[in-house]
Amino acid sequence: MRIIIFCFLFFVTFSFDVQMASGQRTPVRERTSFNTGWRFQKDDPPGSEGVLSYEKIKESVKATGYEFLASTGANGARPVGLLSANVPYSQRSFDDRGWRQLDLPHDWGIEGPFKQEYSGETGKLPWWGVGWYRKHFAVSPRDKGKQFYLDIDGAMAYATVWLNGTFVGGWPYGYASFELNLTPFIDFGADNVIAIRLDNPPDSSRWYPGGGIYRNVWLVKTSPVHVAHWGTYITTPTVSPAAAKVNLKVTIENDSAAPANVVVKTQVYENLQGQKVGKPAVSAPAPVTVRAVPNESITLTVTVKNPKLWSIKKPNLYTAVTTIEQNGKLVDSQETVFGIRTIKFDVANGFFLNGEHVRLNGVCDHHDLGALGSAINIRALERQLEILKEMGVNALRTSHNPPAPELLDLCDRMGMVVMDEAFDAWRRGKKKNDYHLIFDDWHEKDLRAQIRRDRNHPSVIIWSIGNEIGEQSNAEGHKLSAELIRIAHEEDSTRPATAGANQLNAGYNGFQKTVDIFGYNYKPTEYGKFRQANPTIPLFASETASTVSSRGEYFFPVSDDKALGRANFQVSSYDLYAPRWAFPPDVEFKGLDEFPFTAGEFVWTGFDYLGEPTPYGGDSTTLLNFTDPAEQALMAKELKELTKIKVPSRSSYFGIIDLAGFKKDRFYIYQARWRPELPMAHILPHWNWAERAGQVTPVHVYTSGDEAELFLNGKSLGRKKRGQFEYRLRWDEVKYEPGELKVIAYRNGQRWAEEVMKTTGPAAKLLLQSDRAAVKADGHDLSFVTVTVADQKGLLVPHSHNLVHFAVSGPGEIVAVDNGDATSFEPFQAMQRKAYNGLCLVIIRTKSGQPGAIKLKAEADGLTGAQIIVASR
Ligand code: GAL
Repeated sequence: MRIIIFCFLFFVTFSFDVQMASGQRTPVRERTSFNTGWRFQKDDPPGSEGVLSYEKIKESVKATGYEFLASTGANGARPVGLLSANVPYSQRSFDDRGWRQLDLPHDWGIEGPFKQEYSGETGKLPWWGVGWYRKHFAVSPRDKGKQFYLDIDGAMAYATVWLNGTFVGGWPYGYASFELNLTPFIDFGADNVIAIRLDNPPDSSRWYPGGGIYRNVWLVKTSPVHVAHWGTYITTPTVSPAAAKVNLKVTIENDSAAPANVVVKTQVYENLQGQKVGKPAVSAPAPVTVRAVPNESITLTVTVKNPKLWSIKKPNLYTAVTTIEQNGKLVDSQETVFGIRTIKFDVANGFFLNGEHVRLNGVCDHHDLGALGSAINIRALERQLEILKEMGVNALRTSHNPPAPELLDLCDRMGMVVMDEAFDAWRRGKKKNDYHLIFDDWHEKDLRAQIRRDRNHPSVIIWSIGNEIGEQSNAEGHKLSAELIRIAHEEDSTRPATAGANQLNAGYNGFQKTVDIFGYNYKPTEYGKFRQANPTIPLFASETASTVSSRGEYFFPVSDDKALGRANFQVSSYDLYAPRWAFPPDVEFKGLDEFPFTAGEFVWTGFDYLGEPTPYGGDSTTLLNFTDPAEQALMAKELKELTKIKVPSRSSYFGIIDLAGFKKDRFYIYQARWRPELPMAHILPHWNWAERAGQVTPVHVYTSGDEAELFLNGKSLGRKKRGQFEYRLRWDEVKYEPGELKVIAYRNGQRWAEEVMKTTGPAAKLLLQSDRAAVKADGHDLSFVTVTVADQKGLLVPHSHNLVHFAVSGPGEIVAVDNGDATSFEPFQAMQRKAYNGLCLVIIRTKSGQPGAIKLKAEADGLTGAQIIVASR
């Protein structure tokens, strides 16, 4: 079997992130990718199983957390010893040549195989267990006297790290970024071996977390006196059209034995597409004496004249270059990208950015990238944001954990505000092995780490300390909430902190008073009552909808009962169906429109994700899965005999967009509302119902117009106007006849938009379309190619499920395929895929340093094949 190695790397892997002093030939700070050339092995070595389990080594790992907090005076010395004398994989001398070679980021879960017996929330993929990574690297003797740090953006989970056989440190939370000081353990001029053990507990997540070092890893080299990790914190206390005051708090670390006298200053440049441009605004140089311990902080001030504000429409950025000079020589230079903007949450009117009201048209998303798993890839994230922006999304909630740092870079650059979330559980767990096991020891470190890492991003507008926390209903919860909010404020007082509350009483029992702004999950009818009881607390809808649907599936008769609409482990796409606690989009829109002081919503979810396949989450499923009475009776019998039936679902149905990135109908009900100036109309369902001739087949239309007329084969079925609190136009009595449905939408009586849905002919050919004509030949960039099963005229054939085979030539390789079907167990890493309701997806990665034409060929039995060329430059 061919093993495809995943290595989705950060774009700058091969370019040194280097800060040079003018006139100086050696860089003063280097941050290089540490992603390539790793060896990987699952499980502990025989005989050492469990020797390094967290419970046994926890005091040593906790020391890393205390060291991180050291600047705040916390203590907690590392116990002596190597921790691993008897575990060969951590030893420098261990011969790892037989291990698998790979590059990071890496997610071992996505490699599969899918297994029916895994529970739905796992994604039916094996992401848990122990995994070891080892890497050999050389350090030049010339670098003696330099400091070396390992920056891990995220490793799932319970990471512990050894260098040359000596324990360096660790960090349990798989979504946290952390830094370890390697300097004392480095052997200059020799082969150094780093060993990382991950231990990903089963039953630790309500969704697919992935397993492995799934984010980027960096090696940072500095002088002994340098800007500390996440050591710049930029705020803009006053902003006017004429000038912005930029405060830059710099934390300096001195790793030499003696106090150091240094001069710190900062220059602020405009940042245009990542480049520093123009003449900088400068701070006054500040002399500081930095003792060896603890770190020293100083605040510099820069005035930026006529500031170009960061906004959703114009995401202007700046770069602050902070330098440290010692004895007249530059010893460090650190760049921080930031933006100048003001934010405000108002009780009466919601959210304001730069003084302008902005309704939060947001989505929640988990971190997996569908068929690519959790292994971070910038282009895959950027594509997600592009699709969301096309829908009109302006806000993203990183549910329910800190995101990859690159996501926030993209949100800064593309103009999307962010609710940056910390936890899904506190002391009370939701899963046997989730965060509650380490909450007491780690919540402070994790929350501080998250905020210190993310607080310079202009996109981040809200800190969230938790989602649907079990403690929201009791006094213990109020205490914990108050404590977490205090920590958040200590790290950053410029943004409000909140928690998503799903319990009604959390809005009245005192919990609501512990947060700066209050977020309700799934309470569209409660906003008015909340406001009456809490006249001073700003409110928003931290999670809404959870509507479920499968792209291209429609079941009849169409019922408005939200519990129905299910068959064959799929959910009808009339967008009327939701689990018990949830609602169709229309109900949430009404709540927000009735109570417009609510700052907006974060819909669950933008994209489908691996795991949590509600309503098919359990294995003992309900008979509602079957609409045909005969089939239902059969299943009832089978259920009785087996006491359970096997549910194949491995990914969610909540997404507005499916797992492959294809739009479901729901995309357009949000686009109609969130992009009111875009003339658009969308018809559902498709119009291929040969078996339904003469039967009632309701037609719904989503439009940014306020009125529309529907025609079937040229005959008007009536013109309808949207009433107050109505968000779709419905022709519920249409009797199916093949041909053409056409809708003409109007706004204020004027023709506004038009859309046609035609009955297609049989499947005849494949069509290929890539998301971009050209990609970068950097070994990371991706081309997403959509494969459509079409009739002779090129129309997508709705029920087609043809198996499509792929072949690539030129400098690219297929890294994953998908079709958005939540019930498919076909592997993501393959050269073929069945279409699901007319579509499938091929993801091609470029090869580094190999420009040229990448050619993709697609073939399917009985259909005319297709090919496409993507230029890799
Ligand atoms: C919410 C929860 C989400 C997800 C969603 C599904 O209550 O916060 O994580 O589980 O339900 O509807």
